[in-house]
Amino acid sequence: MIQVFAHRGASGMHPENSLSAISAALEVDVNGIELDVQSCRDDYAIIHDTWLDRTTSGKGMVRDATREALNKLDAGNGEGIPTLQDVFDLVGKKATINLELKHTYSLDKFVQYIEKNVQAGTIERSQLILSSFDHHQLVWLKQKMPWVKIGALTASIPLHYAEFAERLHAYSIHIDKNFINHEFVKDAKQRGLFVYSYTVDKQQDIEQVLDMGVDGIFSNYPCYAKMVVNQW
Ligand code: G3P
Ligand code: CA
Repeated sequence: MIQVFAHRGASGMHPENSLSAISAALEVDVNGIELDVQSCRDDYAIIHDTWLDRTTSGKGMVRDATREALNKLDAGNGEGIPTLQDVFDLVGKKATINLELKHTYSLDKFVQYIEKNVQAGTIERSQLILSSFDHHQLVWLKQKMPWVKIGALTASIPLHYAEFAERLHAYSIHIDKNFINHEFVKDAKQRGLFVYSYTVDKQQDIEQVLDMGVDGIFSNYPCYAKMVVNQW
């Protein structure tokens, strides 16, 4: 079954990476939710940019702000920036959670954070996919958490990329829709990897990547994307 991921939550209709965007995605029964994670001063915050300026009422770098300060900002519709814990508490076991690590430091602490939630039963190991454009981070995470599903994230297709993902024991490859091609998808799938493509919102784009054989898509409009997938 084709997997539909809500990209930054249902971010076409709600503030990106917000709890309302996540709730909206859950309401339309998405398979998964993609969210951006980065370190703030004392926690892990759900926000795409390094700087607060584009998506919030704040200024400055995310990494310099405390969780409390971030939560008081307006990140759209009067909502604050969620923490990773807010996300785990809201999503629970209802959907796959794909965390894309942006500027995420203290990876040891990050691993503890996740393990704590798994042990508490808030989330299940099998629902988590960790991805990052920083492939060194992925190697490190897989070493620390051999059980975790890794999404090898790439914009273009570096040489031998599917081979790299296979050696990493990645679960999936997440690739920009503009770089995907039939041969690459075939190669990745023969190596036992799922291929998910981002970010596809228009019918033509969705159908194009589906025709190439992808196993899933990331969309800012997951409700519409599901309809297109179902009619494909
Ligand atoms: O994880 C897929 C996609 O979100 C990567 O790019 O810039 O939207 O985080 P970006
Ligand atoms: Ca992302």
